[in-house]
Amino acid sequence: MTATVPEPGRPRMARWLSTTNSVTATFLAAGRVQGLINLAGGLPAPELYPADAMAEIAGQVVRDHPAETLGYGPADGLPALKDALAGRLATADLHLSRDNVLITGGALQALDLVGKVLVEPGQTIAVQAPTYLGALDAWRPRDPVYRPITLDAPGLDAEAALAGAQFGYAVPNFSNPTGHLVGLPQRQALVAAAHRTGTWLVEDDPYGTLYYDAAPLPRLIELSAAMKPGPYAGPVIYIGTLSKEIAPGLRIGWVIAAPEMIAALTMGKLAGDMCSPGVTQRMAAAAIRCGLIDRIQPQVIALYRARRDALCAAMAAHLSGWLDWEVPVGGMFVWATLRDPSLDSARLAALALEAGVCVAPGASFDPLGRASRSIRLNFTLNDADRLQEGVRRLARALAAA
Ligand SMILES: Cc1ncc(COP(=O)(O)O)c(C=O)c1O
Repeated sequence: MTATVPEPGRPRMARWLSTTNSVTATFLAAGRVQGLINLAGGLPAPELYPADAMAEIAGQVVRDHPAETLGYGPADGLPALKDALAGRLATADLHLSRDNVLITGGALQALDLVGKVLVEPGQTIAVQAPTYLGALDAWRPRDPVYRPITLDAPGLDAEAALAGAQFGYAVPNFSNPTGHLVGLPQRQALVAAAHRTGTWLVEDDPYGTLYYDAAPLPRLIELSAAMKPGPYAGPVIYIGTLSKEIAPGLRIGWVIAAPEMIAALTMGKLAGDMCSPGVTQRMAAAAIRCGLIDRIQPQVIALYRARRDALCAAMAAHLSGWLDWEVPVGGMFVWATLRDPSLDSARLAALALEAGVCVAPGASFDPLGRASRSIRLNFTLNDADRLQEGVRRLARALAAA
């Protein structure tokens, strides 16, 4: 990446560019280390990408739908994909029409659009803390004030947490970074508070299909729909993506929300990229329709469950003297916290890098940028051998620290 400091005499870049996060610097440094094991990112296992099936589908959709795939399309998305998603996500309580659906360039564009249409500088976003780094990056140009919420804090007052905020933000299924599954009582409390206060509630759900041990809990939007019968018009803004289910390179995400919110987000999208690519939208619709996604899901779950087990077993063998963690029942991450209060995770991440393993330091996920004693470890990208070796290297770094 090039520096954001302009040549002398040129206009200054926008102020938000100078508010950086330490994880980017860590990743950049990581690229220079030979043989490094990357436990820091949130990447899927590339061997799971259904390359042959998708290549077949790609050719077919372009031949069958040349105007839709190669021309400009509607800003809110191709009807075929909107219908496929509405059909996939609707339940007995959640009634969806095309007016409830917007197709986006991954979940990240959806987060960016939510910031664009809801936040003026200085306004408040109430966020589940710690918070997905990409969301903080997406909203940085909006210059918000963050109100961190600890969703599992005993006696959480969800109404007070949301009151006065432009929106609340949560990743209830296997949060990034903590891998934590938000329980049903907390989900119910959040949704009820959103209905009572009228606050928008963003449910970001990239990991909602990655349950390894537990039975899936209802989504916030499902709980919200059950509170008010009829076509969905409630306060939950649900964000989904194909990035973790099939392939992030498709850049297919979506928003399910009240029609008024979809209309506003569509205005934002129109000004940003006009429309999402027709080829990948048609590919996504075909992959849903022909059952490809449902067919690969068991393989995805089996591989990730085995990798989660491999990482946690290696951690139990080598790291239990230094770190505490919760074994996640789904998702992609383990969040581990240093027992020693004198150690900081940024220093540990730097030492780990020297030992040949890259981990994500907790401060990057703190909406207020505070120091942290936690690190995020990813278990989906590497096989069991590399996960074990990564943990051994981390143990060496801890011993040095
Ligand atoms: C919580 C969360 N939201 C959104 C995203 C972005 O996903 P996408 O690839 O669909 O833009 C990620 C990706 O890691 C994520 O963890």
